[in-house]
Amino acid sequence: MLTTFDLIYFSPTFTTRQILREIASLRPGKLRQEADLTPCGSSFSRSYSSTEALLVGFPVYAGRVPETFVERLRGLQADGTPAVIVAVYGNRAYDDALLEMKTLLEARGFRTAAAAAFVARHNIVPRIAAHRPDAEDLAAARRFARELFDKMENTPSPAPDSPGLPVKGNTPFRPYHRMTVHPAAGRACTSCGLCARECPVGAIPAQDPRQTDAQRCITCMRCVYVCPSHARKLPLLARLLTRKKLSELCKGRKQPEWVL
Ligand SMILES: Cc1cc2nc3c(=O)[nH]c(=O)nc-3n(C[C@H](O)[C@H](O)[C@H](O)COP(=O)(O)O)c2cc1C
Ligand code: SF4
Ligand code: SF4
Repeated sequence: MLTTFDLIYFSPTFTTRQILREIASLRPGKLRQEADLTPCGSSFSRSYSSTEALLVGFPVYAGRVPETFVERLRGLQADGTPAVIVAVYGNRAYDDALLEMKTLLEARGFRTAAAAAFVARHNIVPRIAAHRPDAEDLAAARRFARELFDKMENTPSPAPDSPGLPVKGNTPFRPYHRMTVHPAAGRACTSCGLCARECPVGAIPAQDPRQTDAQRCITCMRCVYVCPSHARKLPLLARLLTRKKLSELCKGRKQPEWVL
């Protein structure tokens, strides 16, 4: 029986948060806590009991779970607690990301109750899946949530030795590739400092927000999306090359999918 659930996510450009909130909105009374682990320095520690549940969401980076999010989840422990895993990707592929999160959570004592993949605007090339999640995606998120909560509330927990949920992905996981290009600000920058405060990894110096620390930057694109002057961008050549490469790989509308 489900008593309460927590919502935990990493969402630099806000689409993962939007989809997770849509799912959670079907049981507002059971949401115990929403933890956004995007801000710089975030972490989350908690030991869960078997009657609680965890709903965890993240964007897919290079077919994997963002390394920053993995680090911030270190303090999680569970005792057979059901976990619901939601990956959000930019209409290319989610590759090994769901399987990676399943493996990580099960090593901490969670049981994977459901895994879902939703599509959102590709934040590096925003003309790809430009207006997603759209009304159709959000309706799918609510359909998923109805099936999920119905199952969690009305079906007894499976026996500990029952076969786990089949989740797509391959092992060994594909190598985690960090992007080697990073946004920086041009002349339109007013030095308001917002991007420096919002950067999830502290890669923008507050005293000189036109710069970017390439060692720290994870190319999450948050600074580009929050800048009120539209001053931060990836270098032009990187934008053109990425657009060309991804436009081929992201053709066709990919649909939300889930297993539970
Ligand atoms: C560094 C990086 C790598 C990405 N890799 C993938 C990928 O492998 N496949 C894909 O379909 N989308 C990829 N995307 C797109 C994001 O998964 C997508 O835009 C997602 O909606 C971003 O979530 P957010 O808005 O919560 O930050 C990538 C984006 C970034 C920033
Ligand atoms: S948010 Fe934009 S205008 Fe403000 S400091 Fe950053 S780049 Fe400059
Ligand atoms: S500087 Fe890099 S890590 Fe920081 S918000 Fe911008 S893209 Fe993300």
